[in-house]
Amino acid sequence: MAGIAYVNGRYLPKAQATVNIEDRGNQFADGVYEVLKVIDGRLSDGDRHFARLHRSLAAIEVDPPMTDRALEQVILETVRRNRLEDATVYVQISRGAAPRDHLFPRDTLPSIMMTARRLKRPDPKAYADGVGVVTAPDLRWLRCEIKSVSLLANVLAKQAAAEDGCYETWLTRDDGVVTECSASNAYIVDASGVLRTHPLSSLILGGVTRSVVLELARAEGLPVEERAFTTAEVDTAHEAFLTSTSSWVMPVVRVDGRAVADGTPGPVTRRLQQAYQAHVFGNRAPTGLSVAASAAAG
Ligand SMILES: Cc1ncc(COP(=O)(O)O)c(C=O)c1O
Repeated sequence: MAGIAYVNGRYLPKAQATVNIEDRGNQFADGVYEVLKVIDGRLSDGDRHFARLHRSLAAIEVDPPMTDRALEQVILETVRRNRLEDATVYVQISRGAAPRDHLFPRDTLPSIMMTARRLKRPDPKAYADGVGVVTAPDLRWLRCEIKSVSLLANVLAKQAAAEDGCYETWLTRDDGVVTECSASNAYIVDASGVLRTHPLSSLILGGVTRSVVLELARAEGLPVEERAFTTAEVDTAHEAFLTSTSSWVMPVVRVDGRAVADGTPGPVTRRLQQAYQAHVFGNRAPTGLSVAASAAAG
């Protein structure tokens, strides 16, 4: 457990970085979080992550424990103290510690904790060849727009995918609508060539990567509709993919064991992989990830 964590004003070796036993984040999952990338010592899409953090905190009625500027400094310092340049940072803010009671006290100081690790990159083979996903009922609560640390349903869904040899679980509501995945947003290019993803609502987490990728797609002149799709529509889709801060734009080539189109990543997915990498890394040296030869065709 090497590394330095930030906890409530202190930078400590992880083994010594502790929170109060009665922290409400621990007892009630009464807290929210963000996962961000730091690239070349700068936050990647920091404004979007901070905006979402503010929305999550407001939804649970917790005041931000520090200004955005201070939070940025602490994130960068945590990365620096871990001797990292490119990093994935986990930031968690809970309501703080108080004697256990469902009712929350209004006067607790929020707890803030942070860890940093070497930048998580998508697995190169998965990124080039695509991954399989399974589908399963979306068993989560109805406030999925809050980036809550209460992730039990997500954890179980992700584990079920792995045990089926798959990368992710696409979560479905009763009508077969795909909301999102256990830890990422879901997309198809439908039978008419339109890029579709579930609209923003309390049924999904508005991914930062989702917002970036939709902007990039529109800038590329691709037809985009924030309109839900069903599992039945996946059968006739031309392409599928998923996005997140850690998975970037990950091609999905099998859903429940059935190939999506010809079972290889499609041209729209390839273009968006390239556009997203350029967005994150600019003109910097290769990231060690390549999109397959078919990208050129896109
Ligand atoms: C449920 C869920 N949806 C979507 C995402 C993708 O969000 P982002 O692109 O901000 O990483 C995540 C990321 O953790 C998530 O947990």
